[in-house]
Amino acid sequence: MRDSHGLEVTAASQAAVDAFDATIMSYLAFANDIGPRLKDTMTLDPDFVLAHCFKGYLFHLMGAKSLAARAGKELALAQAHAAKVTSRERLHVKALESWCHFDLQGATNAWEAAARDHPLDVLALKMLHYTHFYMGNSHNLRNSVGRVWPAWHDKLPAYGYMLSMRAFGLEETGAYDEALSLATRAYELNPNDAWAVHAVAHVHEIRDQRDAGLAWLERCLTGGGKQWNNFRYHLVWHQALVLHEMERSDQALALYDHAMWDPASDEYLDLANDTSLLLRLEMAGVSVGDRWQVLAEKVKGRKDEHLLAFVDAHFMMPLAAVEPDHAEQLLSSIDAYMDTTDDTYASVSKAVARDLSAAVFAYQTGQFESCVETLEPVRSLVHLVGGSHAQRDVFAEMLIEAAVKAGGLTLARSLLYERVSARPRNFRAWNRLTYVLRQLGDVDGALSAARAAQDVRHKI
Ligand SMILES: [Fe+2]
Repeated sequence: MRDSHGLEVTAASQAAVDAFDATIMSYLAFANDIGPRLKDTMTLDPDFVLAHCFKGYLFHLMGAKSLAARAGKELALAQAHAAKVTSRERLHVKALESWCHFDLQGATNAWEAAARDHPLDVLALKMLHYTHFYMGNSHNLRNSVGRVWPAWHDKLPAYGYMLSMRAFGLEETGAYDEALSLATRAYELNPNDAWAVHAVAHVHEIRDQRDAGLAWLERCLTGGGKQWNNFRYHLVWHQALVLHEMERSDQALALYDHAMWDPASDEYLDLANDTSLLLRLEMAGVSVGDRWQVLAEKVKGRKDEHLLAFVDAHFMMPLAAVEPDHAEQLLSSIDAYMDTTDDTYASVSKAVARDLSAAVFAYQTGQFESCVETLEPVRSLVHLVGGSHAQRDVFAEMLIEAAVKAGGLTLARSLLYERVSARPRNFRAWNRLTYVLRQLGDVDGALSAARAAQDVRHKI
């Protein structure tokens, strides 16, 4: 059989291939009907190897160990029929096998091989977008799309989704104009493309175009997108981030309560959104009430999962805030894991992530000097934990705040000079710099920074 991009697929019927195609299109759009569509596919062909691979991927993508264990069953089912499938499909089986061993690099290599020979393999490309992102490799986030780009054109069904993937990779590597242009085009082609909405939001965020970012997200979140899955919460998180930047903290907290917080969700991205927004708000002096406690309840049973270093650094935030014993156990668990295991998580932990989690622990337990001593030497490696610039920015802000609170004012000044140099429209950075310069007795510098703060505040 052939799929909608002309790729050979081993399945019982064309109807099963078409149902799988529809499932992948839902996945690309972050739609909320991925599960039912995959179920339809499996009903049409219970031995569909690529569908079993995709189901296994989904279990891993949920970012919870209990679900990752279920991916093993899908791998076994895929392997049972792997002898009859194409070499491309076998690469997907190999990728799932690697992922089941928590070897993200191995999975990435298999998808790269599939994409090299089959540049229209949009599933492999989307998975590469995920692993390059969480392995902190923004160049490959961009280049994995670039390597197949000549094969894509606007008559192909997933072309718009490829545009938004390309846009996000460009944004994360600093090509903001091109990213904005491609993401806007992807959205015009398909307003259901949440990744296009997201890429535009990232361009506005990194450029500190607060009004434009807020207007864009309000338009996209209210105008459509009702069919999006939990990724919708991440878009709301971006919205809350803009409000926070505008010092509209009450509104950011209201968004958290009414449009982000999902008591039923255990998805890692939702928890990362929640924890990082609360930490940002708290660092800005906002009282977050008992919100840490409910988050701590959600994550304290997950201290030994160690699926993504990025996630553990976020799990540390609520635990260290209100359950320091559990937070210490998380640190010990990371130590034990990286000393006894040899997978992607362990290598990232050794390089930086263990220190990052320790720094979060120190900050949240009021040991600001320790936070600075732990984080400052490794801050240039934080990108290795993965995530976007916007997501990792919480750690940059935390180091600045820790330096201020520990009395390391010259370090705080240096970090803030760096920040306003990279982001000259960042109101909060200019504002904080004003405070630090004042504390250091630099009256002229403080006046100048205060003027810059007011200037960028009103220029938005
Ligand atoms: Fe984002």
